[in-house]
Amino acid sequence: MFALESFNNIHKHLDTQLSLAPIQGITNHIFRNALHKHIGGVDKYYAPYLRIDKEKHFRPSKQYDILPENNPDLTLIPQIMVNNSADFLKLAEFIESLGYTELNWNLGCPYPMVTNRKLGAGLLPHHTTIIEILNHVLPKIKISVSIKMRSGLTDDTELEKLLPKLNPFPLSEIIIHPRFAKQLYKEKANPELFKACSHLSAHQLAYNGDVFSPDSFRTYKKQIPAIDHFMLGRGLVANPFLARQIRSAKGFDIQEASEQFQSFHNELFENTQKMLRSEGQTLLRMKSYWGYFSHGFSNNRKAYKLIKKSNSFNKYHEATRRIFKEQSLLLQPYNRNDNNIDE
Ligand SMILES: Cc1cc2nc3c(=O)[nH]c(=O)nc-3n(C[C@H](O)[C@H](O)[C@H](O)COP(=O)(O)O)c2cc1C
Repeated sequence: MFALESFNNIHKHLDTQLSLAPIQGITNHIFRNALHKHIGGVDKYYAPYLRIDKEKHFRPSKQYDILPENNPDLTLIPQIMVNNSADFLKLAEFIESLGYTELNWNLGCPYPMVTNRKLGAGLLPHHTTIIEILNHVLPKIKISVSIKMRSGLTDDTELEKLLPKLNPFPLSEIIIHPRFAKQLYKEKANPELFKACSHLSAHQLAYNGDVFSPDSFRTYKKQIPAIDHFMLGRGLVANPFLARQIRSAKGFDIQEASEQFQSFHNELFENTQKMLRSEGQTLLRMKSYWGYFSHGFSNNRKAYKLIKKSNSFNKYHEATRRIFKEQSLLLQPYNRNDNNIDE
């Protein structure tokens, strides 16, 4: 029951940092800025990965997302996905030149198109390559490096084998998403595995995976009380108030939250339209957001259906007006078994 201004004081008291996970196609600078401005509660934001493409190009459209002028008021950690030292150095130097002090190396992307090319989680079984890259690049760059990793590619065993090998390197943090890549997002994340392996690392560790509600946060935090950084992904996109709910012992004024959600949504729409320009592309992007947002409304299926069938801006605005008028924002947990999302 508080306004955003007073909230910013309250949110400093939680002893655990909460960050927004990188989600390609969703948590771009437009989403991050709108979330930060209208809802808040997030300490730091990770940008979806940058990479050098097959033709060895680093596309300007990708650079745009992390430019400091496009992320003016938030703490941003850019992410890279690479499997060789040359690409690592090229991206690290670019990110460093923008003034960032940390970058994150993606060793977690699970999709076969990526892993078959020994990128993301596809690099996890190749310990020698990982070690060689770190040995080669770390002495050459000033920017600090953190890693975000899954527990393995085809099973959970890489985590316990790789963590001790990373101990000699001056990494700023290792964010562990305890689920192996072949599982994609189907099985539950495995916090017990995180806990069982955490003593193998000399590094600061962060937890990521299936934090969908304040209750699930508290359950995981109880299991791993020493971990003081939790990264929130789908749960925070589906319920943009999740970080604030985790921090707040009090209930929410639903009317106020509804208004904040609408301001957040309207800015997301306007800036997405400005960036993508085309009506079709903008609608496509907004539909993927609503695959998550619809979870928060009293009639998830109906809300998503209304959005899904809007084939013009007029129809889209009509659909959102109806949802905001006829449905309540419930601030309920993301339900991975009842979603409208292509994960
Ligand atoms: C569509 C989609 C895109 C993603 N893109 C990225 C990415 O660019 N970089 C990354 O490290 N993780 C990416 N992830 C993984 C998330 O950052 C996070 O690790 C995962 O969703 C588990 O956290 P959650 O259960 O809180 O969602 C992506 C996940 C999804 C569903």
